[in-house]
Amino acid sequence: MDKKYYVAVIGGAGHVGAPLSIVLASKGIPTLVNDLNKNSLALLASGKMPFLEDGAEPLLEKALKEKMLGFSSDPESIANASIVVVTIGTPIDEFHNPRLSVLTQCIDGLLPFINDDQLIILRSTVAPGVTDYLNRYLKNKGKNCPLAFCPERVVQGKGVEEIQTLPQLVSGTSDLAVKLASELFSKIAPDVIVMSTIEAEFAKLISNAYRYIQFAATNQLYMLVESAGLDYNKLLTKMKQGYPRMGSIPSAGFAAGPCLMKDTMQLFSFEKKNFFLGQVAMTINEGLPDFMISQLISKTTTVINVKIGILGMAFKAECDDIRDSLSYRLKKTLEFKGALVSCSDEYVTNSDFVSKEELVKQCDIIIVGVPHKAYKQLIIPYGKEIIDLWNIL
Ligand SMILES: NC(=O)c1ccc[n+]([C@@H]2O[C@H](COP(=O)([O-])OP(=O)(O)OC[C@H]3O[C@@H](n4cnc5c(N)ncnc54)[C@H](O)[C@@H]3O)[C@@H](O)[C@H]2O)c1
Repeated sequence: MDKKYYVAVIGGAGHVGAPLSIVLASKGIPTLVNDLNKNSLALLASGKMPFLEDGAEPLLEKALKEKMLGFSSDPESIANASIVVVTIGTPIDEFHNPRLSVLTQCIDGLLPFINDDQLIILRSTVAPGVTDYLNRYLKNKGKNCPLAFCPERVVQGKGVEEIQTLPQLVSGTSDLAVKLASELFSKIAPDVIVMSTIEAEFAKLISNAYRYIQFAATNQLYMLVESAGLDYNKLLTKMKQGYPRMGSIPSAGFAAGPCLMKDTMQLFSFEKKNFFLGQVAMTINEGLPDFMISQLISKTTTVINVKIGILGMAFKAECDDIRDSLSYRLKKTLEFKGALVSCSDEYVTNSDFVSKEELVKQCDIIIVGVPHKAYKQLIIPYGKEIIDLWNIL
């Protein structure tokens, strides 16, 4: 290796990039964390994670001690790496189509420093066909570097563990790209599964879309059962008793976060006429807060000037990430309808939030947005209205 770093991770301070950088570096692979977010870079360089990630800090400390990590927000720095892994966010637009320009703009910024002897690995989640598109894009710009697509399939917050325990899907636009990417991931993953680029793109999107559809199924059934005046959780518990075929049905809850809906919509936008299920799943999951509010209003007649508290503002339990959290949608709609809303979270810092105990004291109606474990201990005084999809209280 004649370059200072074996790998440069673009977006290396993000939720996908940081765990990958840390795992690579902890295995003795010199890794450059490249990110525009200077605050997150400074945190990582000081041994602190910018967000919750199980098991990351001890490995980060080890990698820093062994001088296996470098940090930069400058695109020029990637010239020092043999492999460039792109992990930047790939959002959808207001029409639920992927915003390809985010990716091409990032590549444009890197272009002057990309050489044909570097391997480029796309790791962000992309719509089917984007890797081939990007390959043509690079070639049109005069770059002939090998391009691989190796998607991330870990669950957020468990990346450090799952990068090292789940098989890695590897695809590339040439045999050389597949060979080099396989060599890299063989150093950290237990197994490498080779497929075509479009298979890998579908594989990643289907993993998230299928999960999203499963949540939509249970959420739709929840709305049906609750509208009939029954308790869905009680019903599920009884239905599951001694009946393993129902064991895997999840309880109702907010299906939110930066990936599930977005990736379902990436599949939807790929061929709109063929993915009604994805579109319907989105309508159901995004509509759950509205359903909860209409159920509440049917009980209390109005929410105007009613003190309502939301417990849990992150997008899922034991997480500090609020991206696309449905608790915020719930808050917004409640406030629009005139409620006085207080919020609390165990992991998200916000000076407007109150403690869970204070929230319970202040509010007449308590809604669980996200079932953080700490809520199990909460004592709710008699007489308060509780809406708790997960039955955690
Ligand atoms: N969050 C997850 O658990 C998860 C899991 C699997 C796949 N993904 C996919 O991975 C991708 C990244 O998601 P994420 O959650 O890590 O996003 P993120 O926002 O946490 O991280 C992206 C990082 O990229 C940085 N960045 C953006 N543009 C840049 C540029 N031009 N140069 C350098 N840095 C730049 C940002 O500052 C940020 O730190 C998305 O495509 C997402 O769908 C995410």
